[in-house]
Parts: sequence; C-alpha cells; structure tokens
Amino acid sequence: MVLKRAEPGGPAAEVGYWTAAAARGRGVAPRALEVLTGWAFAAFAADGLVRLDLLHQVDNTASCRVAEKTGYGFRSVLPALPPEFPLDGHLHSRSA
Ligand SMILES: CC(C)(COP(=O)(O)OP(=O)(O)OC[C@H]1O[C@@H](n2cnc3c(N)ncnc32)[C@H](O)[C@@H]1OP(=O)(O)O)[C@@H](O)C(=O)NCCC(=O)NCCS
Repeated sequence: MVLKRAEPGGPAAEVGYWTAAAARGRGVAPRALEVLTGWAFAAFAADGLVRLDLLHQVDNTASCRVAEKTGYGFRSVLPALPPEFPLDGHLHSRSA
C-alpha cells in the first residue's frame, strides 16, 4: 500500500496498491485499502486531509474493481500521458 501526499497540508492525497501475484483474487487489496483509508482520514484530519484519490490505467480492470469495492467512486477519465502512461486512466476518489 502507498499513501502519497504531494502537497503537505493540502486537501488531497493519493493511494496505491500492489499484491503478490499468488495472493490475488482473495480481496486482500480492498481490505488493506479500507484500513489505509480509515487510518489516513483519522491521522491527517486535523491537517486538512478531506479526499483520497486513486488512479489506474483504463485496461486495469482488477484495480478498477478494488476502487469500486472500497467506495472510491469514479470521477473522470484522465488522458494518456506517454511514455509513462500510454493509455487513458481513471480517477476515483473517496471523501472523508
Ligand atoms: C489490482 C490488485 C492490487 C488487486 O488486488 P487483489 O488483492 O487481487 O484484489 P481482489 O481480490 O479484490 O481482486 C480484484 C479483482 O481482480 C480480479 N481477479 C480475481 N482473481 C484474480 C487473480 N487470480 N489474478 C488476477 N486478478 C484477479 C477480479 O476482477 C477481481 O474483481 P472481483 O472481486 O470483482 O472479481 C492486483 O491485481 C495487483 O497487484 N495488480 C498489479 C499491480 C496493480 O495493477 N496495482 C494497481 C495500480 S493502479
């Protein structure tokens, strides 16, 4: 799991996740993301954190499912940014 807050004191941070290939399909990522989400909003509430963003490439349906199952609603399509992001992406967010 990763939590990135590019702008200290800003309203938003970004979450990310990876699971070992052999452990996929058992709901590990959604459970871990739920714990990270609750901790982040509690730990940084006084510091102004009110939104967590989650980005994935459009072809990453597994990641999109993790977002949906963890209450990160779809917000918008992000245009591709080659070479790092050759395909469009999805932006999902969850509010405190
Ligand atoms: C995305 C990822 C973190 C999901 O983790 P997970 O612990 O497998 O999460 P879940 O068990 O909830 O599965 C999520 C979806 O993966 C798919 N899935 C199910 N079994 C799977 C398997 N054995 N292998 C791959 N994907 C599988 C399903 O679409 C599932 O959705 P569903 O519950 O609606 O069927 C994991 O696939 C991963 O690490 N992928 C590579 C890194 C990555 O893409 N990270 C996100 C970058 S934005």
